[in-house]
Amino acid sequence: MPVITNIDDLKQVYKKRTPKMFYDYCESGSYTEQTFRENVTDFQKIRLRQRVARDLTGRSTETLMVGEKAAMPVALAPVGSTGMQNPDGEIKAARAAAAFGVPFTLSTMSICSIEDVAEHSPTPFWFQLYVMKDEDFVDAIIERARAAKCSALVLTLDLQILGQRHKDLKNGLSSPPKLTIPNMINMATKPAWSLGMLKTPRRSFRNIVGHVKGVDNLADLTAWANEQFDPKLDWGKVKRIRDQWGGKLILKGVLDADDARMAVDVGADAMIVSNHGGRQLDGALSSIRMLPSIVRAVGHQTEVYMDGGIRSGQDVIKALALGAKGTFIGRSYIYGLGAGGQAGVTKALEVIQKEMDITMALCGVQKATQIGPEHVLVPKDFEGEWV
Ligand code: GLV
Repeated sequence: MPVITNIDDLKQVYKKRTPKMFYDYCESGSYTEQTFRENVTDFQKIRLRQRVARDLTGRSTETLMVGEKAAMPVALAPVGSTGMQNPDGEIKAARAAAAFGVPFTLSTMSICSIEDVAEHSPTPFWFQLYVMKDEDFVDAIIERARAAKCSALVLTLDLQILGQRHKDLKNGLSSPPKLTIPNMINMATKPAWSLGMLKTPRRSFRNIVGHVKGVDNLADLTAWANEQFDPKLDWGKVKRIRDQWGGKLILKGVLDADDARMAVDVGADAMIVSNHGGRQLDGALSSIRMLPSIVRAVGHQTEVYMDGGIRSGQDVIKALALGAKGTFIGRSYIYGLGAGGQAGVTKALEVIQKEMDITMALCGVQKATQIGPEHVLVPKDFEGEWV
């Protein structure tokens, strides 16, 4: 592997080692990809304030997220099909997160099952729930997450219907991949991935296949989503799930202050300001741009986290300065996973933590928990005046 000094280095290696359809799945937004792009580029509009002649000893990136200690305010976001990016990917990512001391969130649409990950992860992880029409499935998976000792439920609210990602349709995305001639030619150029995949039994959506009546073979995420994601999910259902779960609840996919107030009303322990990595409503504003208004609305009542566009420790600092109590990374750790398995995820976390530490120091801050608006310069029109 070349010398890795930043997240983009991992992305370049990931691209070389991973079949095109899974690289494209990760590296896509919906429709024109405007929101996907702006999640990243809007971070560049915020600048950091250099401060000097400050005591820089005793620095720490540590924090708490929903009361759990985290080595830095960065959790691993739920990412569907992670085990297709790298064999047994969810297990590897969970183990890297546990060793580093940050939360790992397992997606409902994972390749390794809750039970697989629980067996291999030394610490409890968080479970992300997609609400399906099949209520028996939802009841059962909540109980499975409880049995696996998951310490928080992350309920996704922004994917009741799937935004179209053109590349996935063009590539015929499926898990496992269909053995078409172009796919086979492409996989032949990724020998380590192909061998690893042949060796593992974990090649389809193991939280679902075999757990849903009448579904033994789940070919395709889109088909499943179109057929099974619950279009009737409303705040009443959120309350029901909250009561059934009874533990810590994080609501993911809030991008509007009015919805943020609803999330507080239903008693969420935290929410994630998110537009699903620009994969759902194309044309929505970036997460970092929406964050301040949501923090103003509910930041005094609950913990507000954000995801979307974080590719560096500097980005984490900017999000904290704008009021987030924590951040989630998706693509940044998938690049690491695809580049180097568990060690690659560890590398991604190390890169971000080191950038955070040095940047905090150059901003004159000792502790991540002390980062505030005084450490950044935000253009006056950053949030925009919208009518
Ligand atoms: C699923 O969460 C996706 O964005 O593909």
